[in-house]
Amino acid sequence: MIPDSFKQDLLNRVDIVDVVQRYVQLKKGGANFMGLCPFHGEKTPSFTVSPAKQFYHCFGCGAHGNAIGFLIAYAGLGYVDAIKDLAAGVGMQVPEWQPRTPEEAARKERETDLYGVMEQAMDFYRAELKKSPRAIEYLKGRGLTGEIAARFRIGYAPDGWQGLKVVFSDYSHSSLVECGLVIEGEEGKRYDRFRDRVMFPILSTRGAVIGFGGRVLGEGEPKYLNSPETPLFEKGREVYGLVQAREAIHAAGRVLVVEGYMDVVALAQFGVEYAVATLGTATTPIHVTKLLKLADELVFSFDGDAAGRKAAWRALEVSLPLLVDHKPVRFLFLPEGDDPDTFIRKHGKEVFEKQVAAAKTLSEFLIDELRQDADLNSNEGRAKFLSAAKPYLQKMGGSQLPTLVAKEIATLARQPEEAPSLLARAPTPYARSAPPKPSMARHFELEERVLTLVFAKPSLALEVDLQVLNPERDETKALAEIVGLIRQSASPEAVSDAMLIELTRDSEHHELIARAQAEFWMSLKLTAEEALGELKDTLAKLRTRTPEYEKSLSTKILKGLATAEEKRVYEERFLSKRP
Ligand code: UTP
Ligand code: MN
Repeated sequence: MIPDSFKQDLLNRVDIVDVVQRYVQLKKGGANFMGLCPFHGEKTPSFTVSPAKQFYHCFGCGAHGNAIGFLIAYAGLGYVDAIKDLAAGVGMQVPEWQPRTPEEAARKERETDLYGVMEQAMDFYRAELKKSPRAIEYLKGRGLTGEIAARFRIGYAPDGWQGLKVVFSDYSHSSLVECGLVIEGEEGKRYDRFRDRVMFPILSTRGAVIGFGGRVLGEGEPKYLNSPETPLFEKGREVYGLVQAREAIHAAGRVLVVEGYMDVVALAQFGVEYAVATLGTATTPIHVTKLLKLADELVFSFDGDAAGRKAAWRALEVSLPLLVDHKPVRFLFLPEGDDPDTFIRKHGKEVFEKQVAAAKTLSEFLIDELRQDADLNSNEGRAKFLSAAKPYLQKMGGSQLPTLVAKEIATLARQPEEAPSLLARAPTPYARSAPPKPSMARHFELEERVLTLVFAKPSLALEVDLQVLNPERDETKALAEIVGLIRQSASPEAVSDAMLIELTRDSEHHELIARAQAEFWMSLKLTAEEALGELKDTLAKLRTRTPEYEKSLSTKILKGLATAEEKRVYEERFLSKRP
C-alpha cells in the first residue's frame, strides 16, 4: 500500500514525456508530443502525450493512462514496480509499506514467498521433463519441438505422492498448500496436487508463475488439472500465453483467444504467435478489457460444436458493452471436431489465418443467431426478432456501431423506421431515442456539460451538487465516485489529471473516466476560473429545474407517453419525492 500522497508527488515530479520517450519516438507538435502508438500497429501517428495533463492518449486505439499506467501497459511492469521505477528516475524513495497488524505482516511475507515457491516448482518440473523420456515422447507425439516447450516453460510433474519434497526441504510449510501445489488430505496427510502430468505454467502479465495446468499423458480424468484460485491466481483475470504472445499481438494488431493450452502452444509452433487461452473458464469482462487494450482486433475461436457455440454466445454477451467502433470483435468457428491445434496441423498456417481473417464479426454472429430463432417470413417471427434484438442493441458499446446494427435488424424485420426505438436505453431515455424533444435535449446537454467540466478539471468535483443530476447515468455514477475520492484525498485542490487516473485505477468506471478525460481534453479550452464560473452557472440552471424540461416531462406524463424511468425522474426531481 503506497500512500496516495506519495503517488501524487511522484506524478507531479515525473515527466511522462521522458518516460514514454524511453520506448517510443516522439515528436513535438504544438503543446503535445506525437508518435506511433506502441499499443496498436499504425503508420500515421495518433498517439499523443500531453505534458500539461501528464497523460497519454491514442486517438486510434483509445489507449490512455498516466506514467504509471504506461509502464504497466507497455513495459509490462507490475504496479509497485512501475512506481519504484519512476521514483528511482526522479530520486524519490518509495515509502515501505508498513504492515499495521501482525496479520498484515504475515500476509506481506507470504505473498513475496508464494511467487518464489511457484518459480521453484516450475524449475523443478522443467528439470523433470528432461529426465522423462515418456513425457518427452508424449510432447513430440503432439508435434512440439524442444524450442516451443522451452518457450512455454513446459515441464513434467513426476509420478509419486511427494515429488516436490526434492525441492522443498520443508514440505509441511503452509505456503505449498496456499499456492495450490500441495493438497492437505484428511488427517493432515499431504501430497502433490500434480502427479504424472505435463505441466503448463501460467504466467502473470509480468512473467511471474502464478499457476499451472497439468495434462495427463494420454487418456485420463480429469484431462487437465489446474491450480486452484490462490492469492496469486484468479482465473477470471488471467489468460494463458500472454507473455509469449505480447510482441506478436502488437505486430499483428490482433489477438486470438482460443480455448486450450495446447491450442496456444500448437499455434505458436506453426507461427501463429498471437494466441492466448482462457483458463477453462468462460470469458469474463476483465479478459475482454485486458485484451482489447492490447490489440485492434479481438478474435475468439470456438470449437464448431454446440458447446462451442454456447461458449461463443457467452463471450458475445460479455463483449457487447465493451465494444468500441474501431476495434472489431470477431468469432471464428472451426469445423465440428476440430480445435485450432488439430486444424492447423491438418491445413497449415495459411489456411488457418485465412479462416481467422474471414471470421464473423460480432454483429454478424448476433444477427445470425437471432435469425435462427425467428421466422422472418411471418409477422410473428419478425416481431419476435425485433424484441429479441432490442436488449442486445441497448447493451452494445460503440457510437456508430449500434446504430448501424439496429438499422440492419430493423430492415430485416421490414421495419426500417423502427431502428431508433431499438436503441432507446431505459436509463437515459432521452439520450438515444429519436428525435429528442428540444427541452429534454437541453437538460441533457446541461448535465453533459457538468460532467465535461469535471472530467477536464478534476478539482471542480468539489463544487458539484450531485442531486441535480440524473442518478441513472453511468457518467453520473462515475462522477459521484470521483467526487467522493477527491473529497477524501489529502489535498483535494491539488488532484491532477494524472492523479485522477490513479485514484480511479480500480474503479468499475475507470474506462469511462479515461475515455471522458481524453474526449473532453481536446474540446475544452477554458482557464480554471472560466471553467469554475461555467460550472456554477450550469448547476444553477439545473437546480432551477429548467422550466422547458419540466414542462415537456409533465406533458409526456399527462399523455401517458413517459417511460417508467422518466416518471421516476419526474417524481424524484420535480415532485420532491426523494427517498
Ligand atoms: P479441451 O477438452 O478442448 O482440451 O479443453 P484441449 O485443449 O483440446 O486439450 P488437448 O488438445 O486434448 O490436450 C479446453 C480447455 O479447457 C480446460 C483446459 O484449460 C483446456 O485447455 N479443461 C479441459 C480443464 O481445465 N480441465 C479438463 O479436464 C478439460
Ligand atoms: Mn485439443
